[in-house]
Amino acid sequence: MKIAVAKEIDPLEPRVAVSPDTVKKFKALGAEIAIEPGAGIKSGLPDSEFTAVGATIAADAVKDADIVIKVKRPEASELVNYKRGALVIAIMDPYGNEAALKTIADAGVSAFAMELMPRITRAQVMDVLSSQANLAGYRAVIEAAEYFGRAFPMMMTAAGTIPAAKVFVMGVGVAGLQAIATARRLGAVVTATDVRPATKEQVESLGAKFLAVEDDEFKNAQTAGGYAKEMSKEYQAKQAALTAEHIKKQDIIITTALIPGRPAPRLVTAEMVASMKPGSVLVDLAVERGGNVEGVKAGEVTDVNGIKIVGFTNVAGRVAASASSLYARNLFSFIETLVSKETKALAVNWDDELVKATALTKDGAVIHPNFQPKTA
Ligand code: NAI
Repeated sequence: MKIAVAKEIDPLEPRVAVSPDTVKKFKALGAEIAIEPGAGIKSGLPDSEFTAVGATIAADAVKDADIVIKVKRPEASELVNYKRGALVIAIMDPYGNEAALKTIADAGVSAFAMELMPRITRAQVMDVLSSQANLAGYRAVIEAAEYFGRAFPMMMTAAGTIPAAKVFVMGVGVAGLQAIATARRLGAVVTATDVRPATKEQVESLGAKFLAVEDDEFKNAQTAGGYAKEMSKEYQAKQAALTAEHIKKQDIIITTALIPGRPAPRLVTAEMVASMKPGSVLVDLAVERGGNVEGVKAGEVTDVNGIKIVGFTNVAGRVAASASSLYARNLFSFIETLVSKETKALAVNWDDELVKATALTKDGAVIHPNFQPKTA
């Protein structure tokens, strides 16, 4: 069984799908592992780190590979080099990209989307959304600190006292919880909001204060799958009135609010931004899904009368070495389930719930039920 690691062709993608640790683990599984030259360089991993643990470095690594692993979805120019029937495993970003899925199907490979992994106990170690969101939440606070002209912790000095920064985290999933923890470690006074009632206790357990309209709709705002529902217009208006007053007094806002399969909810209007003090910073982690903050621009830092709106994309990639190491482990844990322990060969069980949830294409067709071509 041959596993290849492709170098990312997107210049804005610094992550890599393998680590020296997972090379060792793949070898223990009985696999040969070949890596395209320079694949790890932007994650601080020169080729020598991989050869030292038994990988080979080859420009044509993917050519006869049974499994190709990547960070991002492969493009047509990459797919032409892959063997028909190969498994290709990556973060596929399938929603709204049906044409790209058809290209992958046409290449005859079996593509798996890591981000569709079910959030069940068995698959926690494969949960790329969590591994990357956790780092993005951390990095969002570091970005905020970078653009904030003041210190985060309260400092009492002979020359006077610096007050603690006030940080408000909107959306308390994996990223938001890590943002709260990071801001607290830096000494900020932290408040947070979410529409899922379960988050209140989590926020408080991290030493932050919870802020939300806690009416009947709020008490039922969590789906059976543990995700947020889209809230009614009435709830959104009540919540906006409550948060508007609060936002005026904040120095930093970190937004992370997402609803699966929907555009990101607009939580901070231009008016709310304008109500903040000059020097305040907003970091919008939802920018790739349209943004939680009005006026955010993808990939840019926007200055609105001295208030900065940070809209970096691929924020986990801004901590590339850590993000790659966790992503590589997510991939290994999934691939381990696709290999027979006895024969050390690929043995995909297409009825396994992890495979069913993540498999996008097979034998020239798009097989995932969520991405079937629309019939007229
Ligand atoms: P996400 O990335 O889909 O959304 C981020 C947060 O935004 C969520 O907490 C959501 O409730 C919140 N949000 C949505 N609309 C909002 C609004 N209008 N105002 C304020 N906040 C809003 O969520 P993520 O981080 O992927 O986690 C979702 C859930 O999945 C959580 O319950 C988490 O604990 C759970 N989870 C379970 C795992 C497992 O069992 N293996 C692994 C990871 C997460």
